[in-house]
Amino acid sequence: MCGIVGCILKENKNVGSILFNCISKLEYRGYDSVGLATYDNDIAVKKAKGDIEKVNGKLNFNNMEGNLGIAHTRWASTGNPTDENAHPHLDETKSVAIVHNGTLENYAIIKEELIENGYCFKSTTDSEVIVNLIRKYMNEGLNLEGALRKTTENLKGSYAIVAFTKDEPDKIIATKKDSPLIVAYGDEGYFVASDMPAVLDYARNIIRPQEGEIAVLTKNGIEIHDENGHEVKRKFRYIGWTPEMAQKEGYDYFMIKEINEQSAAVKNTLGQKENIQKVINEIGKVNRICFVACGTSYHASITGKYLIESLAGIPTDVVIASEARYSAKTWDKDTLVIFISQSGETYDSLMVLKEAKKTSKTLAIVNVASSAMSEDAQYVIQTQAGPEIGVAATKTYVAQLTAIYLFSGLIAGNNKLIDELYEVPAYIDEAVGKSDSIKALSKRYDFADDAFYLGRGFSYPTALEGALKLKEITYIHAEGYAAGELKHGPLALIDEKIPVIVIIPPGDDFNKTMINLEEVKARGAIVLSIGAEGDEKIAENSGEFIEMNPNIKDIIAPLVYIVPLQLLSYYVTLDRGYNPDKPKNLAKVITV
Ligand code: M6R
Repeated sequence: MCGIVGCILKENKNVGSILFNCISKLEYRGYDSVGLATYDNDIAVKKAKGDIEKVNGKLNFNNMEGNLGIAHTRWASTGNPTDENAHPHLDETKSVAIVHNGTLENYAIIKEELIENGYCFKSTTDSEVIVNLIRKYMNEGLNLEGALRKTTENLKGSYAIVAFTKDEPDKIIATKKDSPLIVAYGDEGYFVASDMPAVLDYARNIIRPQEGEIAVLTKNGIEIHDENGHEVKRKFRYIGWTPEMAQKEGYDYFMIKEINEQSAAVKNTLGQKENIQKVINEIGKVNRICFVACGTSYHASITGKYLIESLAGIPTDVVIASEARYSAKTWDKDTLVIFISQSGETYDSLMVLKEAKKTSKTLAIVNVASSAMSEDAQYVIQTQAGPEIGVAATKTYVAQLTAIYLFSGLIAGNNKLIDELYEVPAYIDEAVGKSDSIKALSKRYDFADDAFYLGRGFSYPTALEGALKLKEITYIHAEGYAAGELKHGPLALIDEKIPVIVIIPPGDDFNKTMINLEEVKARGAIVLSIGAEGDEKIAENSGEFIEMNPNIKDIIAPLVYIVPLQLLSYYVTLDRGYNPDKPKNLAKVITV
């Protein structure tokens, strides 16, 4: 899940500062190491272990001159995070430079063969075989493009590669398979990157090369070549996201900015109602629905199952994408497979989409318009959260939920639910307004080693998502549980050292969840409840009580009750001295 960038500028100038700016925007894809290679009469490389700002402080990328170069920010997969394993990689003659995102399954065999043929390796990455293979094929007489094509014929696995050589110093070239890659142009020049936010400051007209194609960027433009080297004409798409949308705009961290943007994300996604109705009409009748997703998007999908089954009576499954191959064999032409994804690039989901297209109707609910998933699925609904940079999903989750609620309400013809959705932005703003009191509260939880989140029915996915938010950024072990399931095992763990967060909105399940709350209280747990303002029974039985607007009933609660849980995780993370935007070992887009 690394981030890669390449650019060729129309005029010769300080390409280092432009590449550094671009790669900084991709830090959410990995921050184990960073590096740049530029060309100005010769290839210059600067790279080191560490996050982008720190490494730049040491190496100063801004003074790298020339009009072309490539950059990389790494999330270590093959090979530890070290200076040597940082990209770009050069061949031994220092005449070819590459950056790579992805994982190569057969690199060890290729490496052995190359070593036998006298090629040298300095790193323990899989990526270094790429640069040596390119050099090998160039030594055999191919030009850079031919050598890259021949190289990819040898590779098994996923890759997005950007390369240049001092033997043909007028171009950079790029190709991909199962890893994201966009090519874009603007006034300054021509760009290639893993993801749009990297280039928004310079280029907003984009296309996405297809598998087997090679993008060739020169000072004069971009050409896309098919597998036979013939030019393919493509229409570039103008992207409406602005560079400002991907800035912190005065907030300390992206995460808190994005929490504050949640009411807008819901409002803007509600604006998709007509499009969603159109998509539903085009899809036509389905007998069965299956959601496929990972992480936070999986939690949104569980809410989708509860909604569709209870409102529309259509049998609905939910499958974790990486597990789909073990359970997804029974889809047919009357099945609608719905892929939920913020990035639209999650590898496991994309692989299932490839399969699902062979048998069934496919719908992608994605936030990134130009993503692979939005291009591959038969039908698309775009959530309107804007760019999300913080690794922890927040505003894209409520935007996904909004799209799912609209979809479910529309297929069920449930106007009452749809009307209620228009109240949600105000409820969210009210919840975000509790920020200061949740900040104060967080100090009482930052000591914990473990925590439990309990919810029932519509609040069960909220419990899962609340626990995920806590564990991924605070590093506190947290479990989300169906409230009624606790007594089947985990209750044994509850004692006076364990915070238990109980999600208990008003509705049909209230009394049952209250029994679960009393059960954990009886075992001495530190109970923090989230429920309707003024509820005396909750207040009496809880150590702490976050009081929500009493008009929010259980069915709508997932869209709002997640907000205090996000804020709690955010402030506990700050109390513990961590950066909420960059949790260790994680990246925003999981393309492996
Ligand atoms: O881009 P996707 O929604 O497909 O990503 C799936 C998960 O990796 C993602 O939701 C992850 O769990 C969140 N970033 C966690 O906050």
